[in-house]
Amino acid sequence: MRIAVYERYGPPEVVHLQEAAEPVPGATEVLVRVEASTVGASDAAGRNGTPRFARLFFGLTTPKHPVLGSDFAGVIERVGDGVTRFAPGDRVFGTLAPAMGAHAELVTIAEDAAIARIPERLTAAEAVATVDGFLTALPFLRDVAAVTPGQVVLVNGASGTVGSAAVQLARHFGATVVGVCGPANAPLVASLGADPVIDYTGEDFTEARGAYDVVFDAVGKRSFRAARRSLTAHGIYLTTVPSAAILVQWPVTRWFSRGRRAAIAFTGLRDIRLKAAELALLVELIEAGEFVPVIDRTVAFDDIAEAHRRVDTGHKAGSVVIAMSPADERAKVTPAASASETRATR
Ligand SMILES: NC(=O)c1ccc[n+]([C@@H]2O[C@H](COP(=O)([O-])OP(=O)(O)OC[C@H]3O[C@@H](n4cnc5c(N)ncnc54)[C@H](OP(=O)(O)O)[C@@H]3O)[C@@H](O)[C@H]2O)c1
Repeated sequence: MRIAVYERYGPPEVVHLQEAAEPVPGATEVLVRVEASTVGASDAAGRNGTPRFARLFFGLTTPKHPVLGSDFAGVIERVGDGVTRFAPGDRVFGTLAPAMGAHAELVTIAEDAAIARIPERLTAAEAVATVDGFLTALPFLRDVAAVTPGQVVLVNGASGTVGSAAVQLARHFGATVVGVCGPANAPLVASLGADPVIDYTGEDFTEARGAYDVVFDAVGKRSFRAARRSLTAHGIYLTTVPSAAILVQWPVTRWFSRGRRAAIAFTGLRDIRLKAAELALLVELIEAGEFVPVIDRTVAFDDIAEAHRRVDTGHKAGSVVIAMSPADERAKVTPAASASETRATR
C-alpha cells in the first residue's frame, strides 16, 4: 500500500508517497481501505513543526509520527476474529486522533473506537470532511460554553473547518449565530445558518458592546482582551489556538471572575470513548439534515503536497480532502456548491 511520509520538518514538499507493508488488524480491530482523508491545520503544524510547542507532540527535533492524518473514510476490507459491530464491505468513517496515520491506503482501528457507518447520503469525501470540524467545535460549544437556545454566538473564522462546523452546531443548539469571515465566503456562511454575517475586512466585531453570549474565535485571530467588551456580562470567549495570554486568562477568569470568562480546549486529546459517542451524534445530525460537509477542494493522494500548500494559506473554506484513487476524486466541490447542497438537504 502507499503511505504519505515525511522525515523532517519543512514546507509541503517534505511530504512524499512511498510503499509500505499492509497493516494486519488485531482481534478486535477492522482494516479499512481508505478512500478519502483530510489535510488539516494539525497536519500542517505537524509537518512544519510550528508553533514550536507542537513539537512536544510531534517530536522535538525530528518528526516521530512519519505518517500524518487523523480522519479517514472508506470501506472495511477485513475484520479481526472478535469483531461484532462491523463486517467487510461496510462503508465507515472516523478518526484515529490523537494517533495519526490516516494518510495511507489502509488503516486499522479498534471497532469500539471513533468509527461509524457513513450516512447513506454522503460520499466518503463528504463524510471525512465533517469529522475534524464537528469533533472540535462540539466540545467548545456544548461542554465549555454550554450554549442554550436564544443565546447569541459569534463565530470568528466562520468559513474554516472548525468555524463552519461551529456555525451549524450553534444553530442546532438554538442560538442566533453571527458569522465573521472574508467577503468571498459570506454566502457560504449565511447558507450554513449565520445571520448576520460580518466581513472582517470592513468591520471589527469587537467594537460591539455587550452583544455576544459567546465569542468563539475558531481561528485564533482575536484576543480575549480585544473581544472582552463585546461579550455580555457573563459571556465567554473561546479560542482554538493556545497563547501565553489564554493559558493565564483561562484559569484566572474561571476561578476568580464572576463576569466574563475566557477558555480554550484541547479537543484532539480527549478520550476515544467520548469521540466515539460524538461521532454517533454526528451521524444523527447528518441523517437529520442538520449538519452538512463543507469541502474547500479535493486533491488526489499523489498531490498531497498541494493539499498542504492549500492549508498553509490559512484561507481554506471548510476541509481540504485527499482522495486515495482517481475514481474517488469527485468533482471539485466548491464552497458555494456545498452551501447550496446544505440548503437543499434541510
Ligand atoms: N484547540 C484544539 O483542540 C484544536 C483542534 C482543531 C483545530 N485547532 C486549531 O483551530 C484553528 C482553526 O482550524 P481550521 O482548520 O478551522 O482553520 P482554517 O479552516 O484554515 O480557517 C480558515 C478560515 O479562516 C478564515 N480567516 C482567516 N483569517 C481570518 C481573520 N483574520 N478573521 C476571520 N476569519 C479569518 C478564512 O476566511 P477568509 O478566507 O475569508 O479570510 C478561512 O475560511 C487552527 O489554528 C487549528 O490548529 C485547535
